[in-house]
Amino acid sequence: MTDLAALFEPVTLGALELPNRVIMAPLTRARATEGNVPTAMMGEYYAQRADCGLIVSEATAVDPLGMGWYRVPGIWTDEMVDAWRAVTSAVHARGGRMVLQLWHMGRLVLPDYIGGEQPIGPSAIAGEGETFAPRPHGDDSLFLPMKRYVVPRPMEQADIDRVIAAFGKGARNAAAAGFDGVEVHGANGYIIDQFLQSKTNQRSDAYGGPVENRVRLLREVLGAVSAEMEPGRIGLRISPTSERKGMGDSDPGALARAVGAVAREFGLAYIHLIEPIASGFMEKPERPVLDDLRAAFGGKVIQNGSFDAATAAQFITQGKADAISFGRPYIANPDLVTRFRSGAPIALANFDYAYVGEETGYTDYPVHVS
Ligand SMILES: Cc1cc2nc3c(=O)[nH]c(=O)nc-3n(C[C@H](O)[C@H](O)[C@H](O)COP(=O)(O)O)c2cc1C
Repeated sequence: MTDLAALFEPVTLGALELPNRVIMAPLTRARATEGNVPTAMMGEYYAQRADCGLIVSEATAVDPLGMGWYRVPGIWTDEMVDAWRAVTSAVHARGGRMVLQLWHMGRLVLPDYIGGEQPIGPSAIAGEGETFAPRPHGDDSLFLPMKRYVVPRPMEQADIDRVIAAFGKGARNAAAAGFDGVEVHGANGYIIDQFLQSKTNQRSDAYGGPVENRVRLLREVLGAVSAEMEPGRIGLRISPTSERKGMGDSDPGALARAVGAVAREFGLAYIHLIEPIASGFMEKPERPVLDDLRAAFGGKVIQNGSFDAATAAQFITQGKADAISFGRPYIANPDLVTRFRSGAPIALANFDYAYVGEETGYTDYPVHVS
């Protein structure tokens, strides 16, 4: 039997002291109000999972123009801050720690969410595929309509300045809402990733071209965020090898080294790397960049993607990662840490309720009783 002890050892990520190395990965579950305000059931859901080393919240929009998903939470109004404070209080009351994932969707925002406006992106290249559109008035079916992504308007300096300021304000609001820190969402084809990867960034100004330019937006966002919060409470999520939604980079290894160097400049608490060890929700890359990232960053790395308890413990024991995050397993296993400790079976989620619904398939997954 594999020795899982490494999973349950404490670890320090910057200013964050974690009692174990099992991280709850960010999971969009779309249980906020239609006005993007967190709800009481979200507090209950996160509190149920508070015994993990660290909860990374679902992606949370920093600006209404960067919000393109039905019923996801935001962090740009006082009402949102107050509602999030109830969530962090519930998690802290159960002894947990939680960071807020700061999110701007850029070119992946459907015009339906922003009054029919064209979304913004680095270059006039549409995302590949389709996404959830808002629920039509009077429609009470479980499933949401889908629409194709549109061609974004290439961002001008004023658009870039607005995005940077929105991330800064998001961090300030996260601190006011009682979060232990923030995680800047630089992964999964959203705005920062759109600037990082060469396929989506065809700009000829100081934000495009060589990789040193493509990391400029990230550096400026981290500058704004670290003006609001100590760097030891700031993490960064990236997925440089992911090609989903029409992403792609000519040299992911070089990109990982450039991002790692920027994160080192700021002394970030951690980098959260999505680099699956098996294909499933996302593809396993042909050429992993974990080593490139670690060499350039020199700080703590949370690795993610298709892990179970045994592979997670192996990665930590071999010194490849400092902690491992679990996404899909956290949907149906609020007590994942306890199940890992006891060897109890891991429950399977009903994905019909992954991105829609209320309490069913959200807060009603039971803990394991032996
Ligand atoms: C329902 C669902 C929602 C997700 N929402 C987010 C999100 O809000 N932010 C993010 O960075 N990743 C999100 N992801 C990706 C997960 O954090 C994670 O990278 C992915 O599930 C792979 O990890 P796993 O193999 O442990 O599930 C989501 C995944 C799922 C299945």
